[in-house]
Amino acid sequence: MSILKIEDLTFSYGQGGRNIFQGFSTSFEAGTVYAVVGKSGAGKTTLLSLLAALTKPTGGKILVNDKNIFDSDTYRYRCSDVGIVFQNYNLLPKLNAVENVMLSMDISEKEYSNKTQYAVDLLKKMGLEDYDIFRPILQLSGGQQQRVAIARAISYDPAIILADEPTGNLDSRTEQDILNIFQNLAHRDGKCVIIVTHSAEVASAVDKTITIESLKYGTVEAEDVTGGADGGGQTDDPDLMESMAGIDAGVWDFQYKKQPEA
Ligand SMILES: Nc1ncnc2c1ncn2[C@@H]1O[C@H](COP(=O)(O)OP(=O)(O)O)[C@@H](O)[C@H]1O
Ligand SMILES: [Mg+2]
Repeated sequence: MSILKIEDLTFSYGQGGRNIFQGFSTSFEAGTVYAVVGKSGAGKTTLLSLLAALTKPTGGKILVNDKNIFDSDTYRYRCSDVGIVFQNYNLLPKLNAVENVMLSMDISEKEYSNKTQYAVDLLKKMGLEDYDIFRPILQLSGGQQQRVAIARAISYDPAIILADEPTGNLDSRTEQDILNIFQNLAHRDGKCVIIVTHSAEVASAVDKTITIESLKYGTVEAEDVTGGADGGGQTDDPDLMESMAGIDAGVWDFQYKKQPEA
């Protein structure tokens, strides 16, 4: 069952700006990790921003559990239904890790029996050491800050988790750790996890990928990473990947998928 649906989405920055999205539809399921991939400037961050209701579409709808997120309080949606891991973490530098997590817990208005303990336990689960949990954010490494950012995003138990290049600045071992966290969130806890990534490792380890260039028109389905039985899945061919990154790739990709089997 889809938890998140995009219907006929159109978006441009400002009046008369170029259309980044021109009316596409797709859907996302619970219990699944998605990678959104595509060249720089294609609109990956914009897509996450729209899904987080930080940006309003020019046209079309974004439905969570069949309700348009822009029909109700988008602030409340962000505080409780969706967890966001920003590219630059967006942690509050003057607070320590626990305080950063607890702030989001407070804003969510969810009930916790012991807030501090909950935040501490969550940070430990994300792989932070006791010593680091109470240190100011700026004394933590990039990987540690990333773990705090993830802890904060999931602290109020949102059904949807959005992450923008969450392993962008990390070594490959930390990248693997972070990837495992996202996989557990989807496969064990039933979350819908959507990761924007440049990393080939991440893209090949998720359940499904969506190439942003294909998200321009029409109905698009995320591709199984292992390759669908219909043979219409993601390609590994570098030349084909290169051509799919071209200007007309969206149209080409879409038409390609609509071709009947020979
Ligand atoms: N706030 C903004 N105002 C105007 N244009 C923007 C803004 N943010 C991004 N853009 C433009 O929109 C396009 C998509 O940007 P973005 O979603 O950040 O791409 P990606 O994350 O795939 O690299 C780019 O051409 C970018 O320059
Ligand atoms: Mg981006």
